[in-house]
This record gives sequence, structure tokens and C-alpha cells, in this order.
Amino acid sequence: MAGGKGISIEGLPGVGEATAEKLREAGYGTVESIAVATVAELREAAEIGESQAKKIIEAAKKAAEIGTFVTADKVLERRKTIGWITTGGKQLDNLLGGGIETRAITEVFGEFGSGKSQLAHQLCVNVQLPPEQGGLSGKAVFIDTENTFRPERILDMAAGAGLNPTDALRNILVARSYNTDQQLLIAEKAEEIIGKEGVRLLVVDSLTSHFRAEFVGRGTLADRQQKLARHLLTLHRIADLKDIAVFVTNQVQARPDLFFGDPTRPIGGHVLGHSATTRVYLRKSKGGRRIARVVDSPNLPEGESIFVITEQGIRD
Ligand code: GTP
Ligand code: MG
Repeated sequence: MAGGKGISIEGLPGVGEATAEKLREAGYGTVESIAVATVAELREAAEIGESQAKKIIEAAKKAAEIGTFVTADKVLERRKTIGWITTGGKQLDNLLGGGIETRAITEVFGEFGSGKSQLAHQLCVNVQLPPEQGGLSGKAVFIDTENTFRPERILDMAAGAGLNPTDALRNILVARSYNTDQQLLIAEKAEEIIGKEGVRLLVVDSLTSHFRAEFVGRGTLADRQQKLARHLLTLHRIADLKDIAVFVTNQVQARPDLFFGDPTRPIGGHVLGHSATTRVYLRKSKGGRRIARVVDSPNLPEGESIFVITEQGIRD
């Protein structure tokens, strides 16, 4: 798929240097992001007239091949090229249909200490493995919202996976975000570097913590969901157009007040619930074991599997 790869926004008719700069500043750094923008959004971002905005969007759509229908056999063909990243646990991989999928968002949710961040670290290592070992020979981008990224942990896991630990660190691009605005901007920025750097995995750990902290009280729930939805749209676009795996974490609190009902109800509510491609619920079990359950997926049967977190990383 061309997906507008390799075309910079200056290559679009109607986008001069000054316009390109304004667009970039407003977060429209790629052909794809312009292709999905509205005329009003683009007018405001670039301070241009309606007809120019229309022209640019049309050109971007063409360049990005958005808006064209494809026959279902082509869809099947594309699905055949989907890649998977091993989690390090065979059982868990089987549960997920081969590992973490590209062109999809995988959400893991669970209590503190359930292993969400450990899994995120492990995937940053495993994506670097060659395909025959369960990787995609690619790099990782880690958006760290809670200061949980630990390079030392990468060193252990890389050694455990048979990779050169120093090289493994160099193949992970880390960005800290301190609020939701930054988180959204970093995701858009990531879209620009992903193609250039050979990135095949984007991690957001945690997807929801800033949203939860910033939007407290019921009155702002709609705003929060709207902003989160916008963020997820960006992540979906990146996953799909760049053919990479997006892995996000979401903490849920144990609810001792709740004996019936769904204990797996995550922060983020329905917007998130219907937006991730695959959702995996993690919980702690006896003897340091972790249980993973696929909650709803368009193509995976619901089921559970067990894994452990060892010094070297995730294992059966
Ligand atoms: P929150 O971010 O707080 O919601 O939790 P989380 O789900 O991200 O938990 P995380 O992935 O950080 O898991 C922490 C757990 O992983 C610890 O309680 C340990 O059981 C395990 N763990 C972390 N580091 C190591 C390690 O070096 N060796 C081993 N064996 N286990 C580890
Ligand atoms: Mg964590």
C-alpha cells in the first residue's frame, strides 16, 4: 500500500513553505493527517481560504489513497501481510492468535502490578527480533506517561531474548508526556518519524492516566471521552497506514464494593471499549502467575492463558 509514504506535505499542490510550516505546527505533519482533516480545521491551522483548503485535502487524499474502495480479496491480501510480535509466552501468543498484531490497537487493562508495563517493555525488545524468532526486525516507540520506562529492564529482557542489550536500547525511542495535550502531540509527532525509522511498534503506557487525572468530576466526562477518542483515532491511523502494532495500557482499579457486575470495567468507558481492536484483561494469580483474558476481539475467541514474569522477561 502506498499510504502516502515518502510524500512530504510540501509535495502537495497549494502547500508552500509558509503553509507547510503552519500545518506542521498545528500537528498536520503528514499527508495522511491532512487527508483526514476537515476544511474548517485546515483553514484554521494554515490560515488559508476555503478553496485552497479543499484543494489541499483532495490532493492529500489522492496521495494517501484514502477514500478509495478496495475489493474484499484485496482486504484479504492485506490481512495476509499482517505481522505479529511475540509476547515471550507461547500460551499468551496462542491466545492472541500469534502475538500482538500490526495494523491494530491492542489494549491491556488490569490492576497495578498486573504486568502491563512489563509486557510493554517485553514487546519493545521482541519487536527487534527477526521474524523467525517472533519479531518484525523493527524499532519501537515508547510514549511514557507515568515515568515507568526502565532501560535496565530492557537490558535484562534483551539479554534474555538473545539480543545485544546496547543495540536493543538504541532501537527504542522514548518520549515522556506530562499531560494529555502533550500525549496527543507526541502521538502525532510519532507518526512522522515512524516511517523514517523503521518503527513497527508504538507503546502508550499508560493511555489513560493523564486523562483520568485531568478530567475529574462528571461534568467533564464528555470532554474527556472526546479527547480520548481523538487520540485513539490518531493511533488507529498510525497503526493502519504505517502497518505497525499499537500497544496501550489502561489501569483498572479493583472494586471491592462491587460483588456482581463486571470487575473488568476499565477507565475510558465505552469510547475505549469499542475502539481498541483487541482487549486483554490481566490479573494476578497465585505464585506470581498472571492470567490474561481476551475480552472482545473481532477475530479471536474469548479465552484465558497464564504467563509469568521472570528476570529475563515474560515466559510461559
Ligand atoms: P501499574 O502501572 O501500576 O498499573 O502496574 P502494571 O500492570 O504496569 O505492572 P508492572 O508491569 O509494572 O508489573 C510489576 C510486577 O512485575 C512486579 O510486581 C513484579 O512482580 C514484576 N516484575 C517487575 N520487574 C521484575 C523483575 O525484574 N523480575 C521479576 N521476576 N519480576 C519483575
Ligand atoms: Mg505500569
